[in-house]
Amino acid sequence: MEFFLDTADTAEIAALSEILPIDGVTTNPTILSKSGKKPADFFAELEGVLTPEQKIIAQVIAPDKEGMLADARKINQIRGGKNIVVKIPVTTEGYKAMKAAVAEGISVLATGIYSPDQAFWAAKIGVDYLAPYVNRMDNYGDGVGQVAELIQTLKQYGMKAKVCAASFKNTAQVHKLLAAGTPAITVNPAVVRAMIGHLGTPFAVDQFNADWQAAYGTCELGL
Ligand code: E4P
Repeated sequence: MEFFLDTADTAEIAALSEILPIDGVTTNPTILSKSGKKPADFFAELEGVLTPEQKIIAQVIAPDKEGMLADARKINQIRGGKNIVVKIPVTTEGYKAMKAAVAEGISVLATGIYSPDQAFWAAKIGVDYLAPYVNRMDNYGDGVGQVAELIQTLKQYGMKAKVCAASFKNTAQVHKLLAAGTPAITVNPAVVRAMIGHLGTPFAVDQFNADWQAAYGTCELGL
């Protein structure tokens, strides 16, 4: 499975990549614009903290098919088409752009997905990834459950599109989608850090150290 970081914070990407096997980075226009960086500077900086094997997943900006396709080609060229994925929203124009981009061999992630039906059509077009916005879907109903069902639907038809579950606000949502077997997921750094941090762990480690020190009078292994 693939685990991506949903952020434009390159310092956090570098820090978390050192700790965990991160498969790449996703951004969207909101995330990137809030970083305060110029797009070209951001992508140059990103290359400095990622290995060529870690994927970059970036979104088109134009609202119409031709504009999205032009954006998709530019994004695809950032890495000469290797380990680069273009996010295209599931608007009417977006579906047209997806069809054209897939036909050109560009790797596409269908984004802005609020319903399994939107995801189904993007999968039928032949995109590589589908990004259902789990937390936003949860605001309207059982987002986690709908995405878990989507994973099964895609399996049932043998469709190649992978769910890349997105938009998480807490670790419980992430946990449920991992348990449902999501093949890919993108999570912001704060939630990733919440996944690996638990107050009980330092307590347990302090106890180990105290017991060792009490018995052997040292913190060395002694072998
Ligand atoms: C990722 O692909 C999405 O753009 C992102 O997860 C949306 O998250 P949000 O609902 O927190 O904006």
